[in-house]
Amino acid sequence: MDDTELRALFPSESDLAQGTSPTIAPVHQRRTLVGGELIPWTGRTVPVLSAVCARQADGSLRQLEIGSYPSGGAAEAEAALNAAAAAYDHGRGPWPTMTAGERISCMQDFVARMAKHRSTIVELLMFEIGKSRVDSEKEFDRTIEYIRATIEALKALDNENSRFHIVEGTIGQIRRTPLGVVLCMGPYNYPLNETFATLIPALIMGNTIVLKPPRYGALIFDALLEAFQAAFPKGVVNTIYGSGAEVVPLLLESGQVNALTLIGSSRVADHLKKLHPKVNRLRAILGLDAKNAAIVLPDADIELAVRECLLGSLSFNGQRCTALKILIVHEEIVDAFAQQFVRELEKLILGMPWHDGVSITPLPDLNKVQYMLDLLSDAQVHGAKILNRRGGARAGTLFYPAVVYPVTEAMRLYREEQFGPVVPIMPFKDVETALEYVVTSDHGQQVSIFTSSPDEVGRLVDPLVNQVCRVNINCQCQRGPDVFPFTGRKDSAEGTLSVTDALRSFSIRSMIAAKQTEASKALLREVVQQRRSKFVSTDFLF
Ligand code: G3H
Repeated sequence: MDDTELRALFPSESDLAQGTSPTIAPVHQRRTLVGGELIPWTGRTVPVLSAVCARQADGSLRQLEIGSYPSGGAAEAEAALNAAAAAYDHGRGPWPTMTAGERISCMQDFVARMAKHRSTIVELLMFEIGKSRVDSEKEFDRTIEYIRATIEALKALDNENSRFHIVEGTIGQIRRTPLGVVLCMGPYNYPLNETFATLIPALIMGNTIVLKPPRYGALIFDALLEAFQAAFPKGVVNTIYGSGAEVVPLLLESGQVNALTLIGSSRVADHLKKLHPKVNRLRAILGLDAKNAAIVLPDADIELAVRECLLGSLSFNGQRCTALKILIVHEEIVDAFAQQFVRELEKLILGMPWHDGVSITPLPDLNKVQYMLDLLSDAQVHGAKILNRRGGARAGTLFYPAVVYPVTEAMRLYREEQFGPVVPIMPFKDVETALEYVVTSDHGQQVSIFTSSPDEVGRLVDPLVNQVCRVNINCQCQRGPDVFPFTGRKDSAEGTLSVTDALRSFSIRSMIAAKQTEASKALLREVVQQRRSKFVSTDFLF
């Protein structure tokens, strides 16, 4: 497939003009949500270029302009932060003092409103970040499901805490309480799902939010502003747009952010955490870099290993934090593995996000394509080859996945998280070499091992579980099911995100305690029976 064939996969200007190719009505967002108000925006804006290009009459490609959004600065950051702080009101605001049941009702209202925007958000995901229609629909539906599961998890948690304990002459009641203002920043690859995987638990636990949408995938939030406004008390959700480098440091430096949640790079997280003037007051819940390896042993079922490694390395063009980013394959089978991998890769369909059965879609920006090319040149200079004929072909934002072999320590691909459609394969002779790769990595999210031997499973799992937080046996790395703990060691994560863990991550236990005297018992009985407190209560949520 040469440039011309790749180019032909993009819609032409005339297809778009005549409506014979799917297109999208531009979204020019001119409002922000601050303090419960949709504030009209008249300042600078950021243009949004689609991952999808339009083919011009002369064959050149131009990224479609599909909208724009506000570019806030220091004043807007301050306003959003002050609104969140005022709504929290040192824990005395209506939201942090509501019962779990009351907050659940608001969340149910929100999810019903959000569900109405499915088609708008799916279309935006396709055009903003180039995600296939099927995967965009999955992202939306998985997020709705995540919110519903979070509601059920909170009911269970709250019900467990709706009772008193009597220990050593002390009566106690322990509940989870909010942390304060949460600054929430999601990634471009799952702008809805990963942002909400932190925002929703943070919100439902009673925190107030400053939401900074990602640069790619920002427009999807416009559709949800009214839903946030209507479903939650004022100031509970506030948005800030614009350059992260400009606005985010100001938020941290203010000292008013109590929890930072970021799905992004460890370099940015390191920098931001240090800006907080009282660093011990800042809780960080972070999903960061990863360079998950697949270790394929000589006795592996090659067909299965190839299938899983292909999915693992190239789903959504390799743009998943959980993607397999290096395949470490035993030298006895590496040739057979690589040949089969290339054969299967060639069956993948390249095209636009709306094409049936498409796997490889445009990348969200041209710099990303250039970065892939730079990694390939570096590997070639250091002696690697691109194994697949079309590997590295490009046109506009489309990049044909490249399988690179043999990858060695001298190459950038050995350690850099490519986060894109380049698949490095490294041979090994002694399993210690593969283990050493994981041990010496700065990352510690997951690993996949491929073997049919129980002895080898034991030999690999036991050391690997102390290096990463999930060892996948004969399957690719992934986050789901969302009830499983999702976290990482080293520079890959801080805190744990699963439906239940996230509720804990965004809250802290607080309790009342009283001496087990007749007077205390009578007093507490009266507080409960006359519903004098929302915290001291034995209500059961059904
Ligand atoms: O980008 C990181 C995502 O959390 C990965 O989720 O494994 O479900 O694709 P996934």
